[in-house]
Amino acid sequence: MSITLIIHSASQLVTVAGDAPKRGAAQGDLQIIENGAVAIQGETIVAVGASAEIRALATPETKMLDAQQRVVLPGFVDAHTHVVFAGDRAPEFEMRLRGASYLELLKAGGGIMHTVRATRAASLAQIVAETRVRLDRMLAYGTTTAEAKTGYGLDTATELKMLQALAELDATHALDLVPTFIGAHAIPEEYKGRADEFVALVVNEMLPAVAQAKSEKRKSKIFCDVFCDDGAFDLPQTRKILERARELGFPLKIHADEFANLGGAALAAELGAVSADHLMVTRRDEMKRMADANVIAVLLPGTTFGLGKHDFANGRAFVEENVPVALGSDLNPGTSWCESMPMALAIATRYEKLTTAEALVAATLNAAYASGVGARVGSLQAGKLADVLITDVPDYRYLAYRYGTNPLRATIKRGRVVFENARAA
Ligand code: NIG
Ligand code: FE
Repeated sequence: MSITLIIHSASQLVTVAGDAPKRGAAQGDLQIIENGAVAIQGETIVAVGASAEIRALATPETKMLDAQQRVVLPGFVDAHTHVVFAGDRAPEFEMRLRGASYLELLKAGGGIMHTVRATRAASLAQIVAETRVRLDRMLAYGTTTAEAKTGYGLDTATELKMLQALAELDATHALDLVPTFIGAHAIPEEYKGRADEFVALVVNEMLPAVAQAKSEKRKSKIFCDVFCDDGAFDLPQTRKILERARELGFPLKIHADEFANLGGAALAAELGAVSADHLMVTRRDEMKRMADANVIAVLLPGTTFGLGKHDFANGRAFVEENVPVALGSDLNPGTSWCESMPMALAIATRYEKLTTAEALVAATLNAAYASGVGARVGSLQAGKLADVLITDVPDYRYLAYRYGTNPLRATIKRGRVVFENARAA
């Protein structure tokens, strides 16, 4: 088969090439090829290099895309989303603007529970339809792969319905989705005051049911995550769920240190979790343990911003402590309804003290590893999926420097143009 597509004349071809998560001094290692190009065969990248060299590979059938001396980079990987849900929480946003706190709303039966009620009541088709428009917006802002969590069911049937929605969307939408089960996202109202009984339900009923659904679909990877925080699950409860999940073969994630430090980051290190996420109030000694255990720090700057708070995760400290840093949007109806990874870059650079290069590695290769798909996406390398962004900026630093408008001209997913920005053309 001949080469189907060549994207050439990139001012900077930001390859982010690497075969492991980048950390420490290498966190900002973008592996740029000046005046670069990428050759694609079907869904797969077959060569990257200097434009002249790659253009020489063209045959009469090859489609040529001229990047016109703008930046070309790998599709973004959003390492942490709650994109599957029904309804919205606009009234609660207004209440928070007038002083109500997120945890107060949660404790009063709103917050996550509000979305749980809406998601339980919605049909599978309705959930799929509401989520699909969000995936369209993500694609338009350059996300080509996303991790996506359950957690608005909190009963076995609805958690499975969410996984079904995810599978259906993964199969029918251009964006690739990596599922995460987070049955322990909140203590549902019917278990109020009986958190340990709910934990037992997660351990004895939900996890085995999800494991079975997984093996029936021959899906290799479903992560298990727990919201370990004030107002959610404490450390012993989190441990119980994650240990059982590990026994059942789930790779692990944890929501840790979003509001209070309960020791979740150290638990992630102890259990060999793939990532610990949020980490707004994590201590240096805990970062060191994460580094030793190769746990990726998934930082979610949109959440701190979305909550109107100021305690941003200390991205600089994670880099200094040699923890690989990844980024996600945390897209959810409560703390961060944001489909844009460029927005995450804009905030992460200013408030989490990452350089633009570090943030770009975090939003591509490291996010791919945090989502268990680092061998397949996250960089422009021969053999990987052809997930490529053509921007309208001349230099990669603009991707964080300029903000609030879409820097993309086109999103290419698996070798196909799936979004074109008429305005930027
Ligand atoms: O990551 N912290 C827990 N989960 C989400 C919020 C979910 C929601 O409020 O609906 C988060 O911030
Ligand atoms: Fe989250």
